[in-house]
Amino acid sequence: MTTAERSLTSVGEDDAAGQKLFEELIAADSRIEPTDWMPAAYRKTLVRQVSQHAHSEIIGMQPEANWITRAPSLKRKSILMAKVQDEAGHGLYLYSAAETLGTSRDEMVQQLLDGTAKYSSIFNYPARTWADIGAIGWLVDGAAIVNQVPLCRASYAPYGRAMVRICKEESFHQRQGWEILYELAHGTEAQKQMAQEAINRFYGPALQMFGPPDTDSPNSQQSMEWNIKRFSNDDLRQRFVDMIVPQAEALGLHFEDPDLKWNEERGHYDFGELDWDEFKQVIKGEGPCSVQRMQRRRQAHEDGAWVREAAAEFAKKYHGAESALSA
Ligand code: 3HC
Repeated sequence: MTTAERSLTSVGEDDAAGQKLFEELIAADSRIEPTDWMPAAYRKTLVRQVSQHAHSEIIGMQPEANWITRAPSLKRKSILMAKVQDEAGHGLYLYSAAETLGTSRDEMVQQLLDGTAKYSSIFNYPARTWADIGAIGWLVDGAAIVNQVPLCRASYAPYGRAMVRICKEESFHQRQGWEILYELAHGTEAQKQMAQEAINRFYGPALQMFGPPDTDSPNSQQSMEWNIKRFSNDDLRQRFVDMIVPQAEALGLHFEDPDLKWNEERGHYDFGELDWDEFKQVIKGEGPCSVQRMQRRRQAHEDGAWVREAAAEFAKKYHGAESALSA
């Protein structure tokens, strides 16, 4: 169906023809564009997920940015700076994708600042040592890739398109984390121990990035029916565990989970129950660094007020001059 034909049906959220076309597009595994009719609940859940994702990218800069001045060499410093800058870019693509659903970026940012919007639990944990930067790259960006590659096929087209570039960049991030850990794991005994301790700290929180267990995930079922999410939280978590166990072996490191073992019958690794009470506390804003992360973000937002004002003034003048020229 052409865009023109589709836009004829984009007339209002109560529109029966719009509903029918929406259902046909979802059933055909096709894409919904911003001008298409969509149910209010579909729009709402996308704004929720995409804005939370954007906030995660923005808050996620903090644990790593803390290490830019302490990176062990100029090479590591420049790589880390580029990575942190990439995360800012991801946040911006995602805010733009969410804005196409009709909620302004200002509104979404306000929800983050007033604590009504969530961001990923993982970014409430500190990066204590240089090896933690390796663990973040390998495990956190690794989990992000497993979670986000299927989102490249999300039914909402601007989200899926943003995810394609994000996933490509995340692959570099994961490699840089792996490489940091590889060097440490093949360095002195103390360096190897530092790498092992870092992955001990990040294993559980990285597995929790996939969200609560399926039995406790209120949004998953509907999001999968709408082809926003393609796999459940537990399926993706399992996929991630199956991927990282052999990778840890290749690093010469291991996960300190006594229940982690290959299950021949299932063809997957079994792993231990995660601490879901801790997870709930963290997403309630009671994680080890939650207060610090939000204070930092609010401060950065305040410090950036003059930039937003200057940009708004410039836009007014520039557009004023443009319309005078075209008059
Ligand atoms: N941290 C914080 N909140 C979480 C969470 C987590 N790890 N996992 C789930 N939640 C929240 C959900 O947002 C939801 O709250 P809400 O209803 O108020 O929005 C609630 O817990 C119940 O969870 P559900 O499983 O029902 O929620 P979803 O179906 O939305 O699934 C998700 C959660 C898997 C995180 C999904 O939203 C998703 O895939 N989001 C896109 C990816 C994303 O946001 N990743 C964050 C990591 S950031 C990142 O990757 C940056 C990179 O640089 C490393």
